Parts: sequence; structure tokens; C-alpha cells
Amino acid sequence: MARGVSPIHQRADYIETAPTGPAPHLHVVDPVPSHAQQKPRLSLDGVTVNFGARAVSAVQDVSLTIGAGEFVALLGPSGCGKSTLLNVMAGFCTPVQGRVLLDGEPLTGPSAKCGVVFQKHSLFPWMTALDNVAFGPRRLGLTNARQIAQDLLDIVGLAHVANEWPASLSGGMQQRVGIARALATRPPVLLMDEPFGALDAQTRSLMQEELLSIWDKLRPTVVFVTHDIEEAIFLADRVVVMQTYPGRIAREFAIDIPRPRSAEVLNDHAFIERRREITDVIRVEARKTFR
Ligand SMILES: Nc1ncnc2c1ncn2[C@@H]1O[C@H](COP(=O)(O)OP(=O)(O)OP(=O)(O)O)[C@@H](O)[C@H]1O
Ligand SMILES: [Mg+2]
Repeated sequence: MARGVSPIHQRADYIETAPTGPAPHLHVVDPVPSHAQQKPRLSLDGVTVNFGARAVSAVQDVSLTIGAGEFVALLGPSGCGKSTLLNVMAGFCTPVQGRVLLDGEPLTGPSAKCGVVFQKHSLFPWMTALDNVAFGPRRLGLTNARQIAQDLLDIVGLAHVANEWPASLSGGMQQRVGIARALATRPPVLLMDEPFGALDAQTRSLMQEELLSIWDKLRPTVVFVTHDIEEAIFLADRVVVMQTYPGRIAREFAIDIPRPRSAEVLNDHAFIERRREITDVIRVEARKTFR
């Protein structure tokens, strides 16, 4: 993308330090890219989530360790528990069994270390786009909150609607404001639930490249839920495929395609091969949902 990333993203406190400590416990069937072998940031240990009296758990016995600065994509058929798992990582949902560790500490509720982009936008309707994005930095007492918000709206291509209300923006625009808002407090962890699902193909492609550009500079740990196999491979270091009834990890794939990645990688042999492998697994899992 032509636009540069704002200087606010080049602050040293954004950048992850070099890998230290023991290698994370990773459920991978393939070699893990070296930059993913960093200290564990998020660890799920035997996590089970039940809703109501349902006989089958929404998520059952899921263990997953995500390294600091790693970009993980979560794929799987509708209803397999992706959003539930993300809510567990965000501290919004407490598992009935198992635990979540964030930087080695048990997660007992929402953490300021996690920025969340929800599947549906969740902007404050009584605030302008700019004030929505500036909300987090203001709560942190940052005197340049307005500037941070303006820079981020520029990055997501919405500087021209900074003073408009969410209700006057399209669904995709609202979602982009939500992304800017999640980035505004510079969280070391970004949890994103189908953030680009409502965007048209061109905007989606631009946003993917912009997200990679931001990630490359700041190296937050990202968990990115998507239904789009190509999007998952294009973005991630690791693709985790879930299965349904109950929601579990079916398989994991290391994505060892070199970075930086541009749209051309979609034609690379390695990309096509990964897409074929993942499509095969997803097809089997999706078929099970049509029982
Ligand atoms: N608040 C809730 N109350 C009851 N059941 C729920 C609740 N949230 C999720 N579920 C159930 O848990 C299961 C997993 O739902 P979840 O939303 O995590 O799936 P998902 O993989 O994100 O699906 P999608 O791709 O359609 O967004 C589903 O069977 C769903 O009906
Ligand atoms: Mg979901």
C-alpha cells in the first residue's frame, strides 16, 4: 500500500524483544518458522467451554501456545468455536476446564494487553469515528490521543470521515474504525474475529497488506479468525484448523512463506500447496457440520 505507517507505530515500546526463554509447546505438524519460536505470550491449556445444557462442548480440551510476536490464523467451519476460543483468550469467557496464561500469568478477565476486533463492529454510537479511536488512548491519559486516532484513521483509509457518527458509515467502514480503535492503545496482543469479513475484495486486500505492514513494524501477537483460507495463509505464521462438534483443533500448518509477502505470493508453489492441504482438511470438517 502506498501510504506509510505513522511514526506512532515506530515507537520502541511497540517492538517485541528478541526471542528469550524456553521454546513454546506448539502443536504443529510442520516445522515452525524461526520468528514464531519466541517466548510464549498466550497459552491455552486444556480449555473447555460449555454453553447451557448442550450435550456437546462448544470448545473441548483445546491446548495452544502462541509465541510473542507470532501471527496465528484460526480457520474452521461455522459454529466450530472460533469466536468462543477468541473470547476465552480475551478474558470475556471463562472456561469450565483448563486455563489461559497471558505472559505466564493466569487470565482472570479482560486485559489491557489485548486489543479485540469483534466479528461485528462494536463502536460507541454516541461518539464520532475519531472519538471512538481516541477513547482508549484518552483512558490511558495520553495527551496525543487525538493525533494517534487521526493517524490510525488515515492508515485504515478513513481520515475523511473522522468526524462522522458510526451510524452514517457503511458496515465495512465501521469495521475499519473498529480495527483502528483496537490498535490505538498499542496492545501487545491483537485478537481479531473475522475483521475483514464485511469488506469488499479490494478493500480487504488493502487491509490485509496494511495489517501485515503494521504487524511487521510492531510485532504484536495476533490471533486472526477467518473463513478465508487464502487470507489465513497470506497473513499467518501458523494456521490452526478447528473441527466441530465439539470444537477442537483438527490440524495446524506452519506457513513458511518468506516475508514480506505481497499479493504475488498467491501464485507461488508453496502457497498453492498449502492452500490445497488446508482446503482438504476444511472440506472434511465443513461436511461434518451438515449432518
Ligand atoms: N452465548 C452463547 N450461548 C449459547 N451458545 C453459544 C453462545 N456462543 C456460542 N455458542 C455456541 O457455541 C458454538 C460455537 O460458536 P462460535 O460462535 O464460537 O462459532 P464460530 O466458529 O465462531 O462460528 P462462525 O464461523 O459462524 O462465527 C456454536 O454451537 C454456538 O451455537
Ligand atoms: Mg464466529
